[in-house]
Amino acid sequence: MAIFITGGTGYLGSYATEWLLRNTDHELALLVRAPDYDAGVERLWRSLQLHMEADEFHRHLDRICFISGDLREPSLGICAADYDWLISNAESVLHAAASLNLRSERACVNHNLRGTLSVIKLARAIQEDHPLRRFSLVSTVGVAGVSPHAVVMEDEPLDWNRSDFNAYTRTKKFCEHMVRELLSDVPCVYLRPSSVIGDSRFGETTQFDMLRAICVLSEWPIVPFDPQIRIDIVNADWAGHGIAELHVREDLTTETFHLSAGTESRTIGEIATAISAGLGKRMPRFAGGLAGPLEGVSDLLARLPQRGPLRRIGTLLSGFVPHVSADMVYDNVRAVRALGTAPTPFTSYGAKPCAYAKSVGFEFPHRGLPETLDLSNVPPIPVRPMA
Ligand SMILES: NC(=O)c1ccc[n+]([C@@H]2O[C@H](COP(=O)([O-])OP(=O)(O)OC[C@H]3O[C@@H](n4cnc5c(N)ncnc54)[C@H](OP(=O)(O)O)[C@@H]3O)[C@@H](O)[C@H]2O)c1
Repeated sequence: MAIFITGGTGYLGSYATEWLLRNTDHELALLVRAPDYDAGVERLWRSLQLHMEADEFHRHLDRICFISGDLREPSLGICAADYDWLISNAESVLHAAASLNLRSERACVNHNLRGTLSVIKLARAIQEDHPLRRFSLVSTVGVAGVSPHAVVMEDEPLDWNRSDFNAYTRTKKFCEHMVRELLSDVPCVYLRPSSVIGDSRFGETTQFDMLRAICVLSEWPIVPFDPQIRIDIVNADWAGHGIAELHVREDLTTETFHLSAGTESRTIGEIATAISAGLGKRMPRFAGGLAGPLEGVSDLLARLPQRGPLRRIGTLLSGFVPHVSADMVYDNVRAVRALGTAPTPFTSYGAKPCAYAKSVGFEFPHRGLPETLDLSNVPPIPVRPMA
């Protein structure tokens, strides 16, 4: 039986896929936005090359079934044969795909709400065929909404009276609600990462938005935030591997986990000190009173009709500033206890991904599959790897 995974080719999803390939013998059925087998392989290689060399990637391919599809299409755009095959062969669902577009209500509605509803409908069909072992929803701590200076606990119910940070967190919150309401007879877990930035082991990353915001701010002589404000940042290796491990664990007694730094979150002052030292820069000065005006200016720039660097900076900062100003952290006691490890503080590794991001111009230098990689013996899509 296979684990059906959406978003397995994304930044965080690639960590989960890598962990499952290296630590389990499960077959993985990956929803990919790729028209055929070769394009699916190319897409997966783009994300897994952060984690492994081509020969290891090649060795894993016979455990991977590529399911062509798209969250926005009816029945996920999956062809009837593959859909029927999933109904008979999926033992669990790990739903990580989403649009992280903080400003586009339309993208979030289409990818997150409509997409998650379609994944739920598939899960319902599987459940009618045979009991699903688990449905794991990769959510976000942002579903807690805006509650300045709070420590949000993992067992707190969703609070529908709180404001949402943006369209993205609003749709993710409703995704959790849909899963709770429509899959009440399925064992479900809700895995909520905080702001995922970089890998604690190496500088390389394929996701740059938050790093770009940090690097932009680190260039300014005055940082417009109160240095005492905490930011909940988590390393991708802990959060992404945690998602995979919690998905397969049989002994979970609770259903919601914050994959976050929690009360160990560092303050802006501590982070700025660490990043400045790591990048060989002078420590900036702080002006907390400027956070409000910065938010207003970022919003205006993000709404500029013309694409360009100013709109890009506005979009970047308007997503980043409200989260930072809220001074919220997300208690992770359950996740740390279940996984037996804690995340790495951003202050002890953050300079590495910042330096890397700058060195590659905020773009990962993807490598094509080496020509020596012989795919001729790999069966074409659709692959039916197990009985
Ligand atoms: N990164 C963070 O800081 C963070 C924080 C909290 C929560 N999360 C949650 O973690 C999950 C993974 O995020 P991520 O950082 O890995 O994001 P990401 O790098 O943008 O990856 C998103 C994944 O979703 C897939 N996807 C998006 N739209 C799709 C569609 N219409 N049809 C099929 N697949 C689609 C993408 O496919 P392609 O490969 O084709 O693009 C990709 O695999 C999301 O649910 C997100 O809400 C992330």
